[in-house]
Amino acid sequence: MSILVTGGAGFIGSHTCVELLNAGYDIIILDNFANSKPESLKRIKELTGKDFKFYEADIRDAEALQKIFSENKIEAVIHFAGLKSVPQSISQPLEYYDNNIAGTVCLCDVMSKNGCKKMVFSSSATVYGSKNPSPLKEDMPTGGTTNPYGTTKYFIENILKDLCVPDKDWGVTILRYFNPIGAHKSGRIGEDPNGIPGNLMPYITQVAIGKLPHLNVCGNDYPTPDGTGVRDYIHVVDLALGHVKALERLLRTNGCEVYNLGTGKGYSVLDVVHAFEKAAGMKVNYKIAPRREGDIACCYSDPSKAKEILGWEAKYGIEEMCEDSWRWQSQNPNGLN
Ligand code: NAD
Ligand code: WQD
Repeated sequence: MSILVTGGAGFIGSHTCVELLNAGYDIIILDNFANSKPESLKRIKELTGKDFKFYEADIRDAEALQKIFSENKIEAVIHFAGLKSVPQSISQPLEYYDNNIAGTVCLCDVMSKNGCKKMVFSSSATVYGSKNPSPLKEDMPTGGTTNPYGTTKYFIENILKDLCVPDKDWGVTILRYFNPIGAHKSGRIGEDPNGIPGNLMPYITQVAIGKLPHLNVCGNDYPTPDGTGVRDYIHVVDLALGHVKALERLLRTNGCEVYNLGTGKGYSVLDVVHAFEKAAGMKVNYKIAPRREGDIACCYSDPSKAKEILGWEAKYGIEEMCEDSWRWQSQNPNGLN
């Protein structure tokens, strides 16, 4: 029996595939390379010394999905495939609703028809909206998302919850990620954004390597200790290990469960800049800029449910997150080619 990993060539997917292979799972990766490159598959093989099947396919293509399910015995799906840029989702909302929501519905339908009814889904802290106070807990109300990307995650969560109501064979684990950064210790896989990065850590690493002149710190007048935005950064390898734990439980349970994957600690933008400077042994140029529209002051998790039920907690601190992000960037100045 195999685990199908959609979006397995991407940032979080590739790290999770490494940990799944290391844990002894047989995996099959599906990706359309909308935001990743074939080189990442080679590196997963290089890091683990293990082989796996790969299908270049789109999750909206029911025929291609049916072929995968006909040719393989698939026990569960870890579903990473999706578009994830907040600004792009504002300029191309239909593309996001189609890719993320219609794609997930298509995937669930083919899974159901083939009797495969177990899914781990990549959700996001963004579903908590802007009204809940941190630390954020799984039973807080969701919704009030401020961009189409976030809304796709909110809708998909609800679709997956509804799916588990009439058919008790379905099991879905929704994982709400906080802010994934860092990279594999080897420096061989990591985040490889297209164009100018929108997220903080890849922006910092590109300033450090000289590709960008300075970081814009978006707002220093928030009600936080130093005025800059506070987030719960989590090492991508910890996140990957969280998926292995979630899968272990999902394979023996049904129904829909939701877990935060975060560290429970909040760091400000300037905390991250200073931690990075220490890890990389260099100064990072930055300027204070206006607030970024849609940003909230503070967002961090209560990760206790995942610890209690999945037996998972994040092990890496901000120092290692910065060291590993920097090793990845400095060893791969042009990303994966
Ligand atoms: P990523 O873009 O690196 O990986 C997503 C992968 O899915 C890519 O390889 C892309 O080519 C593939 N893909 C996209 N649309 C597809 C389609 N229609 N068919 C087949 N493949 C498709 O992103 P990531 O950071 O690894 O994120 C993985 C998942 O986690 C996404 O669903 C994302 O929304 C979610 N998430 C990410 C973050 C984050 O900050 N990185 C935070 C919370 C949630
Ligand atoms: C972090 C902090 C910025 C860039 C986003 C998505 C969320 C999730 C994770 C997928 C904030 C500040 C950033 C810069 C800055 N993705 N910043 N200068 O906004 O918490 O979350 O990624 O699900 O849905 O919204 O992450 O890394 O963009 O920002 O000062 O150039 O860094 O204001 O305080 P965010 P981020």
